Amino acid sequence: MRKPLMAGNWKMNKTIPEAISVVKALKSAVADVTDVEILICPTFTALYAVSNEVKDSNINIGAQSLFWETKGAFTGEVSPVMVKDTGCSYVIIGHSERRQYFGETDEIINKKMKAAITIGLTPIVCIGETLKERECNITFKVIEKQTRGGLTGLTLEQAALVVIAYEPVWAIGTGKTATPDQAQEVHAFVRKIYAEMYKDAAEKIRILYGGSVNSGNVSELMKKPDIDGGLVGGASLEVESFAKLVKYSKQQL
Ligand code: PGA
Repeated sequence: MRKPLMAGNWKMNKTIPEAISVVKALKSAVADVTDVEILICPTFTALYAVSNEVKDSNINIGAQSLFWETKGAFTGEVSPVMVKDTGCSYVIIGHSERRQYFGETDEIINKKMKAAITIGLTPIVCIGETLKERECNITFKVIEKQTRGGLTGLTLEQAALVVIAYEPVWAIGTGKTATPDQAQEVHAFVRKIYAEMYKDAAEKIRILYGGSVNSGNVSELMKKPDIDGGLVGGASLEVESFAKLVKYSKQQL
């Protein structure tokens, strides 16, 4: 019922020519994929060129962040309408690197979320506990706070459009993936909280897992009922690894 979404988060990697060359090759490598929605999130500078390159393909494009104001004196920021203008349909919001290095709070994330939805971008909201929080047994408390704080104040219609990415901070870029059971436990909890907030929308939304996902561990993760896709950093940078990951269902045959 929920179509899996495999999203590549390129972070601060690739110049425009590098980005173009990867998506060109990716386009043909995944041309036959229909059972999974494919998304690539390049840097701001490459968005326009990359989205032109993937026009008429099965690859969608997303930004890695945005600002909530429409225009004005906000040096260095990029507005929702500008992101939309590049051809994007998605935007990642509140990635743990944004929270950690750029001071994004649940309140800021909530503003960005609403701005994204208003302009017609699908937000992928990131949540996740740090290692210290997991060791202190406050994972669920943190997840509940981030889910409620970041996603408050939506209409039921808007709530059904959201994508949530559970990315334990200790698993990002470390090669240390959460086990499928660990991830499923949090995903089911997130869906339960979301159901308390937005009732039936909880069954419609996709909850992605992120944190050292690769072509070797993706199929086990995807077997879990509440894992609806992946937000992939490192393994999305190369065509071969990302194409293999996107085609995870074929590995089970
Ligand atoms: P990773 O990054 O796959 O390199 O761990 C995931 C992310 O930060 O979105």
